[in-house]
Amino acid sequence: MSVIILGIESSCDDTSAAVIRDGNLLSNLISNQKVHEEYGGVVPELASRAHQANIIPVVDTAIKQAGLSPNDIDAIAFTQGPGLLGSLLVGTSFAKGFALAQNIPLIEVNHLHGHILSHFIKTPENQPQPKLPFLCLLVSGGHTQMVMVRDYDKMEIIGKTIDDAAGEAFDKCAKVMGLGYPGGPVVDKLAKEGNPNAFKFAKPLPKGLDFSFSGLKTSFLYTIRDEIKKNPDFINERKADLCASLQQTIVQILIDKLTAAAKKLGVKDIALAGGVAANSGLRDATTEQGLKLGWSTYIPDFKFTTDNAAMIAIAGYYKYLQKDFTDHTSMPQARLPF
Ligand code: KG4
Ligand code: ZN
Repeated sequence: MSVIILGIESSCDDTSAAVIRDGNLLSNLISNQKVHEEYGGVVPELASRAHQANIIPVVDTAIKQAGLSPNDIDAIAFTQGPGLLGSLLVGTSFAKGFALAQNIPLIEVNHLHGHILSHFIKTPENQPQPKLPFLCLLVSGGHTQMVMVRDYDKMEIIGKTIDDAAGEAFDKCAKVMGLGYPGGPVVDKLAKEGNPNAFKFAKPLPKGLDFSFSGLKTSFLYTIRDEIKKNPDFINERKADLCASLQQTIVQILIDKLTAAAKKLGVKDIALAGGVAANSGLRDATTEQGLKLGWSTYIPDFKFTTDNAAMIAIAGYYKYLQKDFTDHTSMPQARLPF
């Protein structure tokens, strides 16, 4: 018998709904919230209101695009956290209401598990899936961590950032250059025309398998401050070189630690996940390092890197198989532990 899961993601500023049948993707709708652009970052209260306005049409369209009706859904999975509390509350409340109305199981999903398990979403493109166990570098706007994935529900963090996340480093430096929010994709695009060795920024490498990005951010800021004193048009003239050098530094930090972790654990199956996994520099460097060191690398399809509900639906699917359900007392948690 086939299992149809509706997934809901509302942890930050994207309202998303997706439907999967036995792990196969039937639809994945994402409504981006434009309202934050003029503020240079996500405004939590505006995000919650936009989720409220978007959630019903997004779910409705996802179910229709899957060629189904609400009665066909076997269970609903939603992001319980981590994320913005008000945003999570909209998805949680909707999911509870839907589960109650349809009399189907309700499934809590940790957003970060979703990012990792996005590798198991089956699509017509038939991307190869990582073999368990594997090492996953999870890099997003709020998190940077390396996770040893032993099973769908057995994951262990083996290294994480002690300050900023990699996505935050991209976004904050982009903001300094006036590139808008989120800055990561803009930096990626501009970096293609720049010289990655034009500038040298601090490359903090804390001991062990942890990451640090705040020193890089400060060094980027100081370079700009000093150069602007000499040439007020510095940012405009050197934007591409700044982006290329910044991106190369972030990617080197990530690849150094990933390589150290792979060696230490003796793992050769390596995956990327999270919004920053969309970065072309990181994708290329991981592939290159994999070829050098004999890794099998798993680079996610672009549509599954940034926040989406398909990843919540697939994580929900594995919990469904374990009958790992919750009930109406479930509460969203902004700082849900991994
Ligand atoms: O996973 P995600 O969509 O949301 C969180 O869970 O945080 O990640 C968003 C982050 C943002 O910091 C954004 O700038 C970054 O991913 N990002 C990128 C790229 N696309 C998205 N960073 C660098 N290069 C990209 N192409
Ligand atoms: Zn995310």
